[in-house]
Amino acid sequence: MPTTTIAEFMEQDHDRLDEIFNRFHTIKKQDAQTARLLFQELKTGLHRHIRWEEEILFPVFEAQAEMARDHGPTGVMRNEHRQIKDLLEQIQAKVAEGDLTTEEAEEGLLQVLTAHNVKEEKILYPWIDTCVSDEERASLLARMGN
Ligand SMILES: [Fe+2]
Ligand SMILES: [Fe+2]
Repeated sequence: MPTTTIAEFMEQDHDRLDEIFNRFHTIKKQDAQTARLLFQELKTGLHRHIRWEEEILFPVFEAQAEMARDHGPTGVMRNEHRQIKDLLEQIQAKVAEGDLTTEEAEEGLLQVLTAHNVKEEKILYPWIDTCVSDEERASLLARMGN
């Protein structure tokens, strides 16, 4: 048995990213410099996470379910990833100018991320875990640097 499932590994990354987002939100009024660094870490981390899903995990689902990329559940998830990246860009544009009045975009990001992550954790990741062999799971995790 592998020590880690896809669901466990990806949920840990969701939690890690939520924590960075939270720290950014909490500290931005006191320490703009640290806030900028935390936002950079959040953006890099979310982009990496989305890359893992779109390039490594979703194709497993799409191949098994014979689902076209652009339709079906992973099409919806890819769409939400685009929204997440757009909101990150909106926040980034302000933060880069030292403007930390990013509440509206942060609120939007939080909403999209919360619903999105629940769907992945409850449906998509467990589905992938049940349909791959232990060897395939180990190889997917290795491709995600684990
Ligand atoms: Fe995702
Ligand atoms: Fe995710």
